[in-house]
Amino acid sequence: MNAGMTHRCLILRSRPVGAPRATDFDVVERTMPTVEDGCVLVRVLECSLDPAMRRWMDENSYGTPIPLGGELPCSLIGRVVQSRWADIGVGDFVTGRGTMSEFAVLRPDGYTRRIEAEGLPSMSCHLSVLGTSGLTAYNGLLKVGKPQAGETVLVSAASGSVGSVVGQIAKIAGCRAVGIAGGPEKCRVLTERYGFDAAIDRIGKDPDELALAVRAACPSGVDVYFDNVGGPCLEAALAAINAQARIVLCGMIGEYNAAPVGPRNLWQLVAKTATMHGFLNRHYLNDCAAELAQLRAWLSEGRLVSAEHVEEGLENFHPTFMRLFSGNHDGKLILRVAPDY
Ligand SMILES: NC(=O)c1ccc[n+]([C@@H]2O[C@H](COP(=O)([O-])OP(=O)(O)OC[C@H]3O[C@@H](n4cnc5c(N)ncnc54)[C@H](OP(=O)(O)O)[C@@H]3O)[C@@H](O)[C@H]2O)c1
Repeated sequence: MNAGMTHRCLILRSRPVGAPRATDFDVVERTMPTVEDGCVLVRVLECSLDPAMRRWMDENSYGTPIPLGGELPCSLIGRVVQSRWADIGVGDFVTGRGTMSEFAVLRPDGYTRRIEAEGLPSMSCHLSVLGTSGLTAYNGLLKVGKPQAGETVLVSAASGSVGSVVGQIAKIAGCRAVGIAGGPEKCRVLTERYGFDAAIDRIGKDPDELALAVRAACPSGVDVYFDNVGGPCLEAALAAINAQARIVLCGMIGEYNAAPVGPRNLWQLVAKTATMHGFLNRHYLNDCAAELAQLRAWLSEGRLVSAEHVEEGLENFHPTFMRLFSGNHDGKLILRVAPDY
């Protein structure tokens, strides 16, 4: 049916060394993918830009490295144009794991599901609060961090897609929520939009100054630290942990383009009999219906606020992706591929 048709795809041309350059990527015409039994072909509407994509560009990181010349994998929202999946029809909106391209095949891999925008601020919520970011925050905080009412939860990259949901769920759980973010405007957003109790501006602070700021913002110490950044933020949090604190290692974006800087005070884990737990949301995907229902309920009740930052066009992938590292975005970073729905 798609014989002879082509579509535009974003590919990895070369493996970035340090910060990715525009020349590491290309947009090329490729033959339309064929749809196997049990799968759907979608017109891609919006693609989620995630820091983990930077790791997949490396030869030896985690997961399957993107081959040179390969299309970039991503979470996306699409509209079905061809279906060989009994429960999903042409015209349905779906979310799932595909590639950054104009058309993509979605498989029954645990990620693909039908979606609709009814009762939601926008369809894009399925890539933010109701997508991997929201589930990562929910599972990482509640199942690994296990916060108790009255405890202090500290989170880095707090105004970002995952961090903003972590802080809001911490508040729902009856905790004091403290966020670390880059710049005064983001700190204002933390307290005014997302309801954090306190915000710490990381910009211009060396690790010792950051540690002092964490202690000042967390006078009762830190019970749960949700780490999205690593390096100086992790060290500053360790300096303020309480006995039996739980540190959730969700990501280390500060190291994705640069040499790692290890914390100098890991001894704190011993002294405070604390735990540090690496976490990958993909291990919690077997049955996420209840978690999604809870996130959706909080969203409809106004107890969760979502924010999406949408840029347009596959050819704008590089400058848009780099916003994750400069911090120049407000909420979930999304690249719109089709001009309209
Ligand atoms: N474990 C999992 O399953 C899983 C799933 C999803 C995401 N993650 C991880 O969660 C983290 C956040 O992802 P996200 O999608 O929500 O991104 P995001 O927070 O929306 O955007 C990234 C933010 O990181 C901060 N940042 C970037 N470079 C930094 C640096 N060198 N030092 C300190 N802060 C820096 C910036 O915020 P400020 O400028 O405000 O500091 C930037 O806005 C990432 O580490 C990601 O890998 C993990």
